[in-house]
Amino acid sequence: MASLTIRKLDEAIKAALRVRAAQHGRSVEDEVRGILREAAAAPVALGPANISSGHNSSGKTEAESQVTLIIGGGIAAYKSLDLIRRLKERGFVVRCVLTNAAQQFVTPLAASALANTRAYTGLFDPASEFDVGHIRLARDCDLIVVAPATADLMAKMAGGHADDLATAILLATDRPVLLAPAMNPLMWSNAATRRNVAQLVRDGVTLVGPDAGEMAEAGESGVGRMAEPVEIAEAVLGMLRPAGPRPLAGRRVLITAGPTHEPIDPVRYIANRSSGKQGFAIAAAARAAGAEVVLVSGPVGLPDPPGVAVKRVESAREMLAAVEAALPADVAIFAAAVADWRVASEGDQKIKKAAGALPRLELVENPDILATVARLADARPPLVIGFAAETEHLIDHARAKLARKRCDWIVANDVSPAGGVMGGDRNTVHVIRKDGDEVRVDSWPAMAKDEVATALVARIAEAVHARQGT
Ligand code: C5P
Repeated sequence: MASLTIRKLDEAIKAALRVRAAQHGRSVEDEVRGILREAAAAPVALGPANISSGHNSSGKTEAESQVTLIIGGGIAAYKSLDLIRRLKERGFVVRCVLTNAAQQFVTPLAASALANTRAYTGLFDPASEFDVGHIRLARDCDLIVVAPATADLMAKMAGGHADDLATAILLATDRPVLLAPAMNPLMWSNAATRRNVAQLVRDGVTLVGPDAGEMAEAGESGVGRMAEPVEIAEAVLGMLRPAGPRPLAGRRVLITAGPTHEPIDPVRYIANRSSGKQGFAIAAAARAAGAEVVLVSGPVGLPDPPGVAVKRVESAREMLAAVEAALPADVAIFAAAVADWRVASEGDQKIKKAAGALPRLELVENPDILATVARLADARPPLVIGFAAETEHLIDHARAKLARKRCDWIVANDVSPAGGVMGGDRNTVHVIRKDGDEVRVDSWPAMAKDEVATALVARIAEAVHARQGT
């Protein structure tokens, strides 16, 4: 018999297998064995009728789904070449359009070689007008992606300009549009860009990113980095995939995320390294599962997940107030890294440095938001989930936390600096659940934080339905 090497499968298939494996609490190898066992046990009717058609919502097979990728002129254009590969891996046919400015960063030849289709550049190019024309590029596709979406391109879109091929396509299209903005943080926060983004969102475009991080310009950082190609490709899949089951439809899910900032004086604060990525990913996954989602977030550089009501707060006390105001909920997930302590009395003025005298900061304990909500008599959500970020004795500490905080589940993750979990994109978690008098520990393999979120939400949906016998 031929042997099967999981490592050699497509990235997208491996990612799906990891999520399935995590959902079933088994290894990827065991998951594959299970799938093969089920497939072998199923009755086989040979012939074309037995071949799955793999149709999506537009009635086409996924392999036929077309994406028009408009590459704008920014340094992030180099990532768009990787995006072409990521989209093709997911079965999309990609046709690229490069603006004049984009061609300063990447060539049409590179884009067409990767896409395996012609790349288009000019509105007045007789060959491309003869070939497909801008109206067909605008409509003969299932989705238009603009990556990088520069401040200039977005301004033109918001104003309805059409003076080159890219903007003419965007004005002529009746297809959904996904923008992956990328620009310097000051350009992103500029009032003109804010206005244009707000207008574009009102016009119905979807945004992915921008992310926070280092800029190409030396020493600059902030919100403005283009979302990673995998993130953009997943957003495309999410927009084109037929609406899947919505197991949390009609449920309200409350999530906390990010760090808290505890003021010392008007300019200084106590904080921690939480990025908020895992909590935001859970909010997006719960929304995708049909839930009404309220996300209470400490200060992070992440954009609001689409369709999620986001309440931004600074301190633990503000977070508690926002959580209490958001109740009741069917499920509450406390992924925030709340500061344990704050200073007893916050200074009204900046504490001055005095020679030889160190300021004495008296600390007091912050309210424990999770424990407070888990102890509520009437308004306690039926499923309360905490997180445990530990650097040692992970499972033991998490078990103790489950009991001490009186929550139903603890999601434990190792945040030792070597693992790169804090601020990183991957996570290895253990889900510790009360099951009657027993405590069950499910250890999941290392996954992207999005995958952890999807698997966790699937588990939550199972638990919600099991409790209600639905
Ligand atoms: O910081 P600690 O390890 O106790 O965090 C465990 C869980 O408790 C996390 O889910 C965290 O969001 C929650 N927590 C909280 N309020 C605090 C401290 C922690 O909600 N003040």
